[in-house]
Amino acid sequence: MRVALVTGAAGGMGRAISDRLLADGLHVIGVDIDGAALLAMAADRDGFTPEAVDVTDPDAIIDLFERMTNRFGGVDVLVNNAGTCLMSDFPDIPAAGLTRQMEVNFHSAFHCCQQAVKAMAGRPGVRKIVNISSNGAYNFDVFDPPHYRASKAAMDTLTKDLARRYARDKIAVNSIAPAMTETSLFNVLTEDVLARAISAMPHGHAMQPEEIAAWVGFLISKAGDVSSGNVIILNQGRDVR
Ligand SMILES: NC(=O)c1ccc[n+]([C@@H]2O[C@H](COP(=O)([O-])OP(=O)(O)OC[C@H]3O[C@@H](n4cnc5c(N)ncnc54)[C@H](O)[C@@H]3O)[C@@H](O)[C@H]2O)c1
Repeated sequence: MRVALVTGAAGGMGRAISDRLLADGLHVIGVDIDGAALLAMAADRDGFTPEAVDVTDPDAIIDLFERMTNRFGGVDVLVNNAGTCLMSDFPDIPAAGLTRQMEVNFHSAFHCCQQAVKAMAGRPGVRKIVNISSNGAYNFDVFDPPHYRASKAAMDTLTKDLARRYARDKIAVNSIAPAMTETSLFNVLTEDVLARAISAMPHGHAMQPEEIAAWVGFLISKAGDVSSGNVIILNQGRDVR
């Protein structure tokens, strides 16, 4: 049995990714700060282990991977999906806001990767790390504030470093960087900003979490074994110049 750990599993994208991997026959450890939502998910999903953990807490992450390694013998897949977009704008971003943005989006992924590579040691086949980045790191026309962009750019640099570092250990590391995808994250935007961002999407509508999850599933499938160190941009072709 292949075991996947998905962070932010109770959110829009995380839930779709968890369901994709469950359908593909993996056991999913769903990690989120929202324990009640995880329990509700576990109630109607077989092969789903809910773990209420704050991924900004490095000690809690160490403890989580230790417990999961004892229980399942290791981890084959990590999807760093937990994240948020703090909407204060430059130059009036409080220091605490910058720190929080980096902790939730980047430090969490960094600490999970540190533990995951250990939990993946000795597991068969090509192990996989997928980091959920954002188009915001690359497209400067859209609304994203700079600390959000920077947190995702940092994540993508981590993707490339680990891809290189662990290639011969058969751990493949990729980022998926989606544009507008319909989840509760849309609630951080004003109606006006949201409408403008959606109208910029070439298909005339936002993407669905299941569409992003399908790409995560592809990377985690056998076909994904030969991809590492890539940042895959998903945006309906919006930014092609
Ligand atoms: N929705 C989009 O348009 C879009 C676009 C690009 C990238 N993303 C990225 O996709 C990822 C998933 O976001 P989403 O759109 O599904 O939003 P979402 O708000 O629906 O889900 C995020 C989940 O992360 C969890 N989370 C937040 N902080 C946490 C913490 N400290 N510990 C544990 N869990 C925590 C939340 O409880 C929530 O369930 C994020 O990294 C986001 O930056 C989203």
